[in-house]
Amino acid sequence: MIIKSAQFKQSSPRADMCPSTDLPEYAFIGRSNVGKSSLINMLTGKNKLAMTSSTPGKTMLINHFIINDKWWLVDLPGYGFAQRGKREMDKLWNLISHYVLDRMELTCLFVLIDVRHEPQKKDLEFLQFLGENRVPFSIVFTKADKLSISKAKANAESYMNSLKDQWEELPPYFLTSATSRLGKDELLDYIDSINASL
Ligand code: GTP
Ligand code: MG
Repeated sequence: MIIKSAQFKQSSPRADMCPSTDLPEYAFIGRSNVGKSSLINMLTGKNKLAMTSSTPGKTMLINHFIINDKWWLVDLPGYGFAQRGKREMDKLWNLISHYVLDRMELTCLFVLIDVRHEPQKKDLEFLQFLGENRVPFSIVFTKADKLSISKAKANAESYMNSLKDQWEELPPYFLTSATSRLGKDELLDYIDSINASL
């Protein structure tokens, strides 16, 4: 798929304040600093579209980007950033869970996982939450450029294998890098194929 246009539309503090259109939405979620905003920039080819930062907790609102005037990319805040304190964490979880559970337009949620790390409790709990609530999702491994390609592939495969204990059927997964643009075509083609099936 070719991205002809990508524009920031709005930041929303609550799921029920998101844009009201019936266009399909693809949202990015994951721990703070995993690379959600960077991935949106990589996919759209616009380096400054979504705000990124080396300090975790940059994205605090639900950010909508309209793509080719036909579908949305959505940048969500990260979960599990403990330094924020309990009240702030509860507020963020409230925002994330309402978006994930109530947003009818949400067509596929991409859960981002840093390919360098062993499975982390926070992520596994989040995947469990999605399963229990039947939210359709795929997994996107990020920062593949920080490892050799063979190590990155091996880590991704072993992560998926470890999910087999918990899941009967594994979701699709993608290996990506915002710096080398690995996985760009695969992810965009995947979104394209879902859009075509709607
Ligand atoms: P929050 O909004 O804080 O939850 O973070 P985020 O998940 O949106 O992460 P963000 O895209 O802001 O990236 C965090 C840091 O990781 C930044 O310093 C990015 O430059 C870096 N980063 C993100 N993706 C990649 C990648 O694929 N490769 C490398 N080398 N660095 C990356
Ligand atoms: Mg972000």
